[in-house]
Amino acid sequence: MKIAHIANFDGQNVTLRGWVTHRRSSGKVQFLNIRDGSGTIQVVVALGTCKAFEDAEKLTQESSVIIEGTVKKEPRSPAGYEIIATSLQIQQVAEPYPITPKEHGIEFLMEHRHLWMRSPKSWAILRIRAQIIRSVSAFFDERDFVRFDAPILTPSACEGTSTLFETPYFDTKAYLTQSGQLYGEAGAMAFGRVYVAGPTFRAEKSKTRKHLTEFWMIEPEVAWATLDDMMDLGEALIEHIKKDALEHCARELALLERDLSKLAPTTYERITYDEALAILQKKGHDLVFGDDLGAPQETALGEHFGKPVFMHHMPAAMKAFYFKHDGKYALGCDLIAPDGYGEIIGGGQREESVETLQARFKEHGLQEKDYNWYLDLRRYGSVPHSGFGMGLERVVAWISGAEHVRQCVPFPRLMNTLHP
Ligand code: 4AD
Ligand code: MG
Repeated sequence: MKIAHIANFDGQNVTLRGWVTHRRSSGKVQFLNIRDGSGTIQVVVALGTCKAFEDAEKLTQESSVIIEGTVKKEPRSPAGYEIIATSLQIQQVAEPYPITPKEHGIEFLMEHRHLWMRSPKSWAILRIRAQIIRSVSAFFDERDFVRFDAPILTPSACEGTSTLFETPYFDTKAYLTQSGQLYGEAGAMAFGRVYVAGPTFRAEKSKTRKHLTEFWMIEPEVAWATLDDMMDLGEALIEHIKKDALEHCARELALLERDLSKLAPTTYERITYDEALAILQKKGHDLVFGDDLGAPQETALGEHFGKPVFMHHMPAAMKAFYFKHDGKYALGCDLIAPDGYGEIIGGGQREESVETLQARFKEHGLQEKDYNWYLDLRRYGSVPHSGFGMGLERVVAWISGAEHVRQCVPFPRLMNTLHP
């Protein structure tokens, strides 16, 4: 029996295997809060009805137990049920547990991440993450995308050379991938529509609530698709994720006290970079053409529209080498989530011409020989194509209302965090 399915066991005798999160005693009755990974429930251990009443007194926080008992409706409990124990078997009495119900500093919690994830809020966020991954797979499966796994060890940069993690590779060197996109483009030419999903790495020295050095990206890539198609696809994907979260993560969202009105269905705003600039300048932001939006500007745009906003047609000079251009603009789009969660999607339409890409390599200080295979995609049946990358942890943060992306992955990697 799993606590998540307790409602199916009303009145029945069940076996519950789990961990004690809390114990309180009122003389002849002990109340144990037990979590089993799928949820938490109160177990009543009463003198006379449970053989092991005395044993229960030994139970410390996080002790592991096997309990047999009867499921009983209890409208006052958050689970709606409780279990009246008939027997209790101790698997292990836990040593004094470092994470107590009192407040702990974030550094302490990060050092104890392997335990912290058992705490209700961490647990809820990571379950929402798992649901989002399920939603993403279902979304792309329904649309005939082929899942396409890109390598982690790569010979060259995708997103500029300043954030590459370098590693020795026999008698040469390799880089941890910044994005699976270039490989996804090869996949799109072979399969039509693919999505890459995996960890990506950036040696980013930013200490913000939105930056990890290792984060997961979901990257669809579609042959024949345009910039507008990507905005349609991105909007549909995020709306699908929201809908599934509301449907399948009600318990988790309630535990996190998430304001569900923030996840109500909506259509997204689409504005050009120039329009964004005008809005921001009117609000007093000191920005000129060519400047990237920082966190305060993204937050201001989110506030202005009160819903997700696609910003497209950015100044070409600020974008990576692979973007298709339209005059001085890159055919790129960023999706900015409201409430300061920032850019959750970045993508656009890709350059199709060999010659243009060769010139771009020079402009961006990249070695053409490293990208010869990529130019083959333009030599042999080049077609318009587009894609984007969705930052998984940022989407998890937004859906769950977490204040930092470090809570949105089991073991976060940040500039100052490599352990545990
Ligand atoms: O905008 P980015 O850099 O785009 C790319 O890497 C493209 N090659 C993707 C593509 O078109 N296939 O990154 C995509 C998204 C961002 O919008 C953001 O959500 C997330 O990845 N992201 C990060 N998330 C956490 N920590 C970081 N350091 C991130 N950098 C980017
Ligand atoms: Mg970006």
